Amino acid sequence: MSMNYVFGFSLFLLLLVALNIYFFYTLIPMGKKSVDFKNVPSIKLDQSPSVFKDIYDYLNYLPSQYKSRNSKFFTLQKTLLTSFSPSDNIQDDWPDLSQVGTGSSLYPHKNSVAGQMLHAMKTAPIVLVDNAPKGTQLKLLLLLEGKQKLYFKPKRYERDHIIHGSIVAGFDRHNSEVFAYYLAMTLNFTWIPPSVIRKIHVDREIVPVATIGLKRTMIRNGNGGRCIYGKCFYCKINETVCPDNKGEIEGAAILYLDKPFQFQVFKSPWHRNYRDSKLMEWQRDNDFCKKVMGTLSTKRILDLVDISIFDFLIQNGDRHRYEMYKDRILLLDNGKGLGNPAVDELDILAPLYQCCIIRLTTWKYLELLSGSSLTETIKLMSAFQGAKLVTEDHFKAVERRLLKVYATVQYCIGRHGSAKVFKA
Ligand SMILES: *[C@@H]1O[C@H](CO)[C@@H](O)[C@H](O)[C@H]1NC(C)=O
Ligand SMILES: *[C@@H]1O[C@H](CO)[C@@H](O)[C@H](O)[C@H]1NC(C)=O
Repeated sequence: MSMNYVFGFSLFLLLLVALNIYFFYTLIPMGKKSVDFKNVPSIKLDQSPSVFKDIYDYLNYLPSQYKSRNSKFFTLQKTLLTSFSPSDNIQDDWPDLSQVGTGSSLYPHKNSVAGQMLHAMKTAPIVLVDNAPKGTQLKLLLLLEGKQKLYFKPKRYERDHIIHGSIVAGFDRHNSEVFAYYLAMTLNFTWIPPSVIRKIHVDREIVPVATIGLKRTMIRNGNGGRCIYGKCFYCKINETVCPDNKGEIEGAAILYLDKPFQFQVFKSPWHRNYRDSKLMEWQRDNDFCKKVMGTLSTKRILDLVDISIFDFLIQNGDRHRYEMYKDRILLLDNGKGLGNPAVDELDILAPLYQCCIIRLTTWKYLELLSGSSLTETIKLMSAFQGAKLVTEDHFKAVERRLLKVYATVQYCIGRHGSAKVFKA
């Protein structure tokens, strides 16, 4: 081998290495850019577990079926709309509620019964109003003609108000309660009390039938309107709810589960730290579910997974405890949703991505709701009540979050295989 040849060959290798380096630095970033990161919101990847990155990778390659409508949902949608349409001749009567809590849904809803019930909750005359002091937020207890009772959670914010900061910040959102009811019914999570927007005239409908206790927590504002500060853990005399220019207070009217309902209350394993910024164990350890599996049944974990999906869609990060009735989790207290339509806190889905199990029936049902069928159905169901529930931004946010739920399940399938993920 001549020296010339060796020298030439070395030169060639050097050139090859140089070209390699050149292409590495110029082409690779271009290749990276072609990946679609547009859908990825501004999450703080550096502080998030790497599981978030993996889920977002699945989101970017989500099969197109999850972005288009599933025609199999049409018949189910029709049934739902029939449940919520007011019957042809609206009567002010209550439907028969003697069987509440005994069937497969908490309250009857089929064949326009839900519509009839919501109509009665919205219009039945009020015979007594009192403070409902249990809990952290201002609410009233209304006794209606016909002996039904309602919780009334007053409106604190306009529909387009955005809550910044912590996921649990701010007052309850009354429309979140009502939206949650329609959402749950659309998802076939029917263990939830009905809820509807109601407006109450303070001077005509509250004051004449208010208890002395309630009157003691009312003060007049500068316009002479009677405002309520109520009685609850966080209630303060300077944080009142006042009538609007028609003298009315708007709120969520939620059917009250009276005796003989006996709930059991449990602390959620995935509860947040409300005292300081220290992370909880589930936030530090992505294998946290192994510990939960040692203490809770698979059925209970599957219930918690269902609920985490529901909470993620509305961004309720406040489910620190949950109530059980007849061995199923009740969806009570849904007022902490709809805080900020631009934010998707993925860690609400921790039960799903840490345990990586989901009921097959839940998954099959979620698959039917793709391509904006979910929010379209909620819009149609709530239209019967004549109130705009939430802004368009919130509807869009729910659709975007549904894609993330699909992606999270795909992530689980990718890691463990569908045989391990789907449970009967
Ligand atoms: C809805 O849930 C009930 C049980 O709560 C179940 O019997 C029913 O089959 C479900 N409907 C659909 C369409 O999956
Ligand atoms: C009401 O007063 C409390 C102190 O008692 C204060 O922390 C809070 O910010 C006040 N709220 C408003 C709306 O001014």
